[in-house]
Amino acid sequence: MRIAERPGTTFGVTVEDFDHTTASEADIDKLKQAVYTSKMVVLRDQDLTARQFLDFGTRLGRPEAYYEPMYHHPEFEEIFVSSNVPENGQQIGVPKTGKFWHADYQFMPDPFGITLIYPQVIPARNRGTYYIDMGRAYERLPGDLKREIAGTRCRHSVRKYFKIRPHDVYRPISEIIDEVERRTPAVVQPTAFLHPMTGETVLYLSEGFTVGIEDGAGDELDGDLLRRLFEATGQLDDTFEHENVHLLSPVKGDLLIWDNRSLIHRARHTATPEPTVSYRVTVHDDRKLHDGLTTA
Ligand SMILES: [Fe+2]
Repeated sequence: MRIAERPGTTFGVTVEDFDHTTASEADIDKLKQAVYTSKMVVLRDQDLTARQFLDFGTRLGRPEAYYEPMYHHPEFEEIFVSSNVPENGQQIGVPKTGKFWHADYQFMPDPFGITLIYPQVIPARNRGTYYIDMGRAYERLPGDLKREIAGTRCRHSVRKYFKIRPHDVYRPISEIIDEVERRTPAVVQPTAFLHPMTGETVLYLSEGFTVGIEDGAGDELDGDLLRRLFEATGQLDDTFEHENVHLLSPVKGDLLIWDNRSLIHRARHTATPEPTVSYRVTVHDDRKLHDGLTTA
């Protein structure tokens, strides 16, 4: 296993000569350390079946199957499928996922620490995903904004981006909204917390899932504070040229592993959709999202 900086970028590392079937526990630990310290690890030259991908993910932690079954791989529910390529006339997984800034499962009470993505069909032209390192983004916040958010908490909800399911057709929208609020009520997390693995302060908010901000007593703060945080971190930059924003464009054989506590990401928008398929496995590591979280 060889770990190297990604060429021409300050974001993430690449790992070559890694085979999860022969990797020792020490190799796995080293890989996970690289995920926490570099935030993004790109494993090169991987050639895995769906089952092997899931087996590999399981070596990094406890897989969490997505709560909505329509995203599941037909054989392995722990694999989330993003696809716009029908198989035998059937839609597998869900198309056009994640075209907004978010951390995975940010709207859930107990988000997992690590996301693995294994692209299966890579578009020829507009490929890639944008990332923001919210540890670096916190560090770069102006001092007065850091002071303003001290002790505050953010509310996160899936409500803006919940995807209508096939069986929702002909249901009243109010009934669907009620169901979303009942099954996935908004969750509250500190606006910034200490990363349990690195001790780094990480901002935990995203334009897609963060719907409110409150002070330590639970009183709602002016929504403009959230807007300023989105702006300062680069999430409102439609050109994606903000210094915090990194584009990563995988090639066939790449398998991406990232720190879901400190990276937010956003699928690239394309005016002309090309065939795209990717598999995702998400795993809980040995710690909660942050040390203040006691959810079982
Ligand atoms: Fe995502």
